[in-house]
Amino acid sequence: MPVQLYDVIVLGGGPGGYLCAERAAQGGLKAAVVEQRWMGGTCLNEGCIPTKSLLYCAKQYAAAKHGADYGVRADHVSYDHARVVARKDQVVRTLVSGVKGTMKTHGVQVYMARATVEGRNPDGTFAVLAGEERLTGRRLVIATGSVPALPPVPGLQAGLERGFVLTNREILDLKALPASLVCIGGGVIGLEMACYFAGVGVPVTVLEMLPKLAGATDPEICDVLMRTYEKEGMTFQLGAKLLEVGTDSVTYEDAGGRHTLPCGKVLLSAGRRPNVQGLNLEALGVQLDRGAVVTDRHLCTNVPGVYAVGDCNGKLMLAHTAYREAEVAVNHMLGIKDEMRYEAIPSVIYTTPEVASVGETQQSAEAKGMRVKTVKVPMQYSGRYVAETMNGSGFCKLVYDLDRSRLVGVHLVGSYASEMICGAALMLETELPLNQLKKLVFPHPTVSEVIREGLFML
Ligand code: NAI
Repeated sequence: MPVQLYDVIVLGGGPGGYLCAERAAQGGLKAAVVEQRWMGGTCLNEGCIPTKSLLYCAKQYAAAKHGADYGVRADHVSYDHARVVARKDQVVRTLVSGVKGTMKTHGVQVYMARATVEGRNPDGTFAVLAGEERLTGRRLVIATGSVPALPPVPGLQAGLERGFVLTNREILDLKALPASLVCIGGGVIGLEMACYFAGVGVPVTVLEMLPKLAGATDPEICDVLMRTYEKEGMTFQLGAKLLEVGTDSVTYEDAGGRHTLPCGKVLLSAGRRPNVQGLNLEALGVQLDRGAVVTDRHLCTNVPGVYAVGDCNGKLMLAHTAYREAEVAVNHMLGIKDEMRYEAIPSVIYTTPEVASVGETQQSAEAKGMRVKTVKVPMQYSGRYVAETMNGSGFCKLVYDLDRSRLVGVHLVGSYASEMICGAALMLETELPLNQLKKLVFPHPTVSEVIREGLFML
């Protein structure tokens, strides 16, 4: 069989990979994607999208249950988890077929096979195996994503093998709700899944080894989340070191000693690591740092012609970061001036209330030696928030750099936060001065008006 020659071979068909191939094809390059499992990657199949589908259903359920508080009575509300999962599958199928269609429209060749790098051909091109098939590429893009990190805890691997411990993949396909759930790790995955399962009536405990939830998220926002969920019956064990996974329990240690907690299922949500093992990147001498592919602001690796976008470069494991990185990489291939900026990338936790942030928190700014002013505006300042929310404790926090006279951080907890953060990111990215920001007109009544209120308090 003749060896196929491509301008770009993309390893991995997630958001970073498929968008890279699409943009490359739009730029006139002959592109191929090699994907071992499913187009759309983690985001579409076992991450962003399916979780949003489940969380939406839990929100509908909560609205129906608490409708009477708002004067809307819906008696005998019940929850059909199997139906919810079936709908989630339908959502995923629709979007995956959309991605496949886009690849076809742009003339991108998709190989559904495991990719391995063979090495370099005498003419300098790259040799790749897609299953049995030999491909040749003038450039390579590594876009192989990430996999769950496995803390070295006795019983964890065995628990995974017998389905007692689940990752973000298996938990989305449970046919029935577990009797109870322990989330190992109170980061983004742990909190979103805790929110879902607690919302549909499963007793949930979150074990977090650090003294605080959600990594670098504003500490007051974490307090709001904890208070809200504790009221709904969720348990948080902070500073909890996981010691062992048993047959139907987990054992952990905290300041109060050693505890064994019986549970129906365990979710492993203790972080993710770049997925580059087994690709044979050594054959090209691609540099790694703690398992992640090292890239510069153009997404170039140390090997000319080899790029790495998305989770595999370990910079910011977010689908929207991967999208932008893919575009920057393709622009570099096409000789278009562009570079990656990581300073104004928003992040969202899709709990109820939603959490969304961009830029520096007061703590991270001060750690960098910035002199900042922070203002906090309760979402109750927004007429729409009051009209729609009962006893909400949402707020917006703005962090302002006094020396550079620039807004450097926006942090939101409350309804619509995920949709509002894009405007806030624009404020940071464009570095507009405060007097200009104050001239922006916000639609009324919207919750976003709290940002405007905050600008006038700076
Ligand atoms: P994460 O890094 O957000 O959180 C992991 C948490 O587990 C940390 O708080 C860590 O201290 C804790 N932990 C680690 N080992 C532990 C142990 N042995 N016992 C107890 N706690 C332990 O990672 P997560 O939640 O697994 O998410 C992985 C990636 O996926 C993240 O990079 C995240 O950004 C991305 N993601 C993004 C989403 C979003 O944008 N909404 C949704 C879900 C995932």
